[in-house]
Amino acid sequence: MKYLNKFLLVIIFFLYSAISFANEGMWLPLLLEKLNEKEMKSLGMKISAKDIYNINSGSLKDAIVSLGGFCTGEIISGKGLVLTNHHCGFDAVQNHSTLEHNYIRDGFWAKSNREELPNPGLFVTFIVRIEDVTKQILNGVTAAMNESERQSQVDKNAEALRATVKKESYQKVLIRGFFENNQYFLFITETYNDVRLVGAPPSAIGNFGKDTDNWMWPRHTGDFSMFRIYAGKDNKPADYSPDNIPYTPKKSLTISLNGVKAGDFTMVFGFPGRTMEYLPGSAVEQIMTVNDPAKISIREKALTVIDEFMRKDEQIRIQYASKYAGIQNAYKKWQGEVLGLTRTGALGKKKVYEAEFQKRVLANPQWKTSYGAVLQDLNNAYAEIKPYGFARDYYNEIISKIELFTVAGQLNSLVNAFDQGGEAAYGKRKKEVTDFLTHFFPEHNSQVDKKLFAALMKMYVEDQPKENVSPLMKERSLTTTEDFEKLAEKVYNETSILDSKAVNEKLQQSTNDVLNFIRTDNAVKLFNDILKTYQSQVQGKLNEIQTRINKLQRTYMQAQMDVFKERKFYPDANSTLRMTYGTVKGYEARDAVTYDFYTYLDGVMEKYKPGDYEFDVPEKLRALYKAKDYGPYGVGGKLPVCFIASNHTTGGNSGSPALNANGHLVGLNFDRVWEGTMSDINYDASICRNIMVDIRYVLFIIDKFADAKHLIKEMNIAGGPKI
Ligand code: ARG
Ligand code: GLU
Repeated sequence: MKYLNKFLLVIIFFLYSAISFANEGMWLPLLLEKLNEKEMKSLGMKISAKDIYNINSGSLKDAIVSLGGFCTGEIISGKGLVLTNHHCGFDAVQNHSTLEHNYIRDGFWAKSNREELPNPGLFVTFIVRIEDVTKQILNGVTAAMNESERQSQVDKNAEALRATVKKESYQKVLIRGFFENNQYFLFITETYNDVRLVGAPPSAIGNFGKDTDNWMWPRHTGDFSMFRIYAGKDNKPADYSPDNIPYTPKKSLTISLNGVKAGDFTMVFGFPGRTMEYLPGSAVEQIMTVNDPAKISIREKALTVIDEFMRKDEQIRIQYASKYAGIQNAYKKWQGEVLGLTRTGALGKKKVYEAEFQKRVLANPQWKTSYGAVLQDLNNAYAEIKPYGFARDYYNEIISKIELFTVAGQLNSLVNAFDQGGEAAYGKRKKEVTDFLTHFFPEHNSQVDKKLFAALMKMYVEDQPKENVSPLMKERSLTTTEDFEKLAEKVYNETSILDSKAVNEKLQQSTNDVLNFIRTDNAVKLFNDILKTYQSQVQGKLNEIQTRINKLQRTYMQAQMDVFKERKFYPDANSTLRMTYGTVKGYEARDAVTYDFYTYLDGVMEKYKPGDYEFDVPEKLRALYKAKDYGPYGVGGKLPVCFIASNHTTGGNSGSPALNANGHLVGLNFDRVWEGTMSDINYDASICRNIMVDIRYVLFIIDKFADAKHLIKEMNIAGGPKI
């Protein structure tokens, strides 16, 4: 009976996985034809894998860009118009905002090309072609090599490959490891640096529902903004110049106004950042019980401090809007992640999977030798890294939130540059630091920062093992009898590195004077002591264990691929171009709660709270709603806003196009549902859903709300009522 139960459990698990794997995966575009085309067609896709990825003629991939390396965008006109999320363009919107021109609050719409606003530092990258270069990169690599020997052989091979690969002078070569570096792919890329802001709705539309609705379904956010790529006269990449012209793309997406219905095929094309689907249960457990909770607790403190200032002060609200949203976003996601992993029994599933893995390995003499111990070794290594991983998260989360340390770190890098490379290195670094500070200070407020210091350094001193606390910090906290508010007052009084005028003037002086100023500053001294303590107590050991884990994960990855031949494997996300596909459907969130897959403008109005900071609705939108003035974008007297589907997405997929069976643009990806945020670690098709804004809502806002018809005219709209 006992055995029967176990046997049944395994059968059920694998039946279940066969189904659940159906929508799981972030696939490499060049392998779609081989691995996915058949399944995609069986789910309803009408185009071919070649229409998606083809290096010989324009294909869908030529309309997809990585936006700034952190989001995705897509080309939606023959004049280089790029659609992405509001939260992806938010930094740009914020940079152009002032108390007089508050584009965050009021939105921004360029009436002509001349009004489009440049954004230094923002770029878009196209993928020209992808090649499997595993053989070349692993040439000469042997199993006997240790990790650093392996890496130097890989680097040598990569260098040789770069030197011979065919490309234009303005293109770049990127080589990335996949499947824990069991495979390598090469990307030829093209980057444009002149990317201008074209339009963004007010935050009350683009970020409607703010943090309360973030990571939640049902959703009613018009999370979009638009940019335009500018090129040199020859249509090639060029640095910003007023003489640059709108870029003519190889391919731009066709827009469909037909919408989607339950069961429809959709695919999402973009640049997912990072997933960890192949961890052993022991590692997942550590994320749930150690790492996520540590990071959550620190962010909670930081958010409380910043929120208090933002509510009282409009200037600080603008300055800290983007930072706050960023801190809050991951803070909330990690909570959903822990909850989702718990609710879906992720650890139990990993246990069953690992038991089956081990059984198969032991039954095969060759596998037994090479893979027999890998799980146990991994479990041991994860147990060993636990305290160091906790210390790393504590250090990173705290130090990165206190801007006093950000500036100290920047200034300190000048000292390091000089010590290592003399005057030349110093000069080069000084330009970077000056650029950094120019962007940094307008968004900094020392009062906020001082409060952050008090709140977070208290955690740093009190919640960590003593040996991880910097001796200088400990000593200083004793001088104020551990009253951290008082200590913060002292620390900020004893430094001038947060005085932008003083720092800028100082940086003009002789190298010696600058270095002296930095070396003797109290805040820099404190920063250095904290850094040194971290390096000696944590970092060395952490890196050593992590290197071992990386090697074991690589073996475990290969082992899973060898042992579970019936399963189709996709590589974890690593910010490279991927395709994911699924079907439009609702889900059962919990007992007695089932969600539909569409939301409408009626839902925006249901959430409307006059004057509220998250749920206010602009007057014009209310008027359009009242008049039911939806133009060609409404259906049956209603205006669609958002919808969900089972596409497997993650951070970085923001702004990715949602395409229908014909490859036409029907939506814009921007989030996932609360119950499914654990999909980065353990995708579960029964509740993992991505959230997209319906393209009809986007066009409605541009056309009816913003009166920016000239932008609609640029677009190629098919398959719907005429506009
Ligand atoms: N959760 C989405 C993502 O991870 C949207 C974040 C932006 N919205 C916000 N309220 N912070 O990027
Ligand atoms: N909002 C996320 C982003 O910025 C995408 C949603 C997700 O994480 O799935 O990329």
